Amino acid sequence: MASVDFHKLRVAEVKRETPDAVSVRFELPDSLREAFAFKAGQHLTFRRDLNGEEVRRNYSVCVSPSEGVLKIGVKKIAGGVFSGWVNDELKAGDELEVMAPHGSFCWIFDPDERREYVAFAGGSGITPILSLMKTALATEPKSRFTLFYGNRNSPGVMFLEEIAGLKDRYIDRLSVFHFLEDEEEEIDLFNGRLDREKVEALLSGVVTPANIDAFFICGPGPMMDAAEEMLLAKSVEKSRILIERFTTGPLSAAQAAAALALEEKAAGLKMSVTLNGRRMQVAFDPEKHSILDNVRAAGLPAPFACKGGVCATCRAKVTAGEVSMKVNYGLSDEEIAEGYVLTCQSTPLTEGVALTYDV
Ligand code: FES
Repeated sequence: MASVDFHKLRVAEVKRETPDAVSVRFELPDSLREAFAFKAGQHLTFRRDLNGEEVRRNYSVCVSPSEGVLKIGVKKIAGGVFSGWVNDELKAGDELEVMAPHGSFCWIFDPDERREYVAFAGGSGITPILSLMKTALATEPKSRFTLFYGNRNSPGVMFLEEIAGLKDRYIDRLSVFHFLEDEEEEIDLFNGRLDREKVEALLSGVVTPANIDAFFICGPGPMMDAAEEMLLAKSVEKSRILIERFTTGPLSAAQAAAALALEEKAAGLKMSVTLNGRRMQVAFDPEKHSILDNVRAAGLPAPFACKGGVCATCRAKVTAGEVSMKVNYGLSDEEIAEGYVLTCQSTPLTEGVALTYDV
């Protein structure tokens, strides 16, 4: 059962990685080692009161489970309340409220396999990819990894030195290509952003998609869309394309109107909700817009972070009835087939929906 509780973790070190990004390493007491065991590519949900408001954010772990430490990378974003606070004020010795690791941007590594991996990372999207890359190289001694990493300029490249060190260490098995938007490289291919044209060129000349076991993608939306689109155009099966989104754009006016109509239609529909072994009947109130907010208003502390359909912190399993999701960037096709939904995006379609967070 996934834990939805928050634990207090003490910061062991805040290290400046770039002018606007830090890594944060946590102390892990023996009592929490099991709860905080993670898979490469997973993230942590943080909760903090800032400026009189509860703020929740997800940050990806940037280390491999084999390193025996727990560390995240946090890039300061414009107007970012939490990322600004972490970059400017957080220090060793401070305590943070943190939920146990979760997320499905993961791959099963097998030391006996000889595989080829490719990653497209942009900006702070490197954090989960660094975790996956280090894990692939450390646990599969015959596998190779190619990283395409886009940034605005070289001072802003997170984990630049660490990646260079990995390149030296895994000289025959790791290839790294940097793409800088604001700096001119000698080879034209490496100038500018990782857009459709560039991704197409890379998939036509640098790597052969048919030979790649898995593609990992994390970065700005347009980069992820370009990479996914070009991989699908090259007939790469969806199961070999793993994407991690940190944020998503707003719904179109038509999508928003359709979602509102569904919510109004669902007014009063009764749901049976289970969390931490406790079951409760909740009647859907369209004013609260989602199953998640209805459940929380009814007094069950259902977990959440982004409320944008991305992080899957609010995941639950539907065991009866039907629900509709507005957007889903957090669940795989398999999870949906098994009945999982993102409750922050869900509206009941039928009377008597039953769902459980205890999965
Ligand atoms: S809270 Fe992030 S997907 Fe629902």
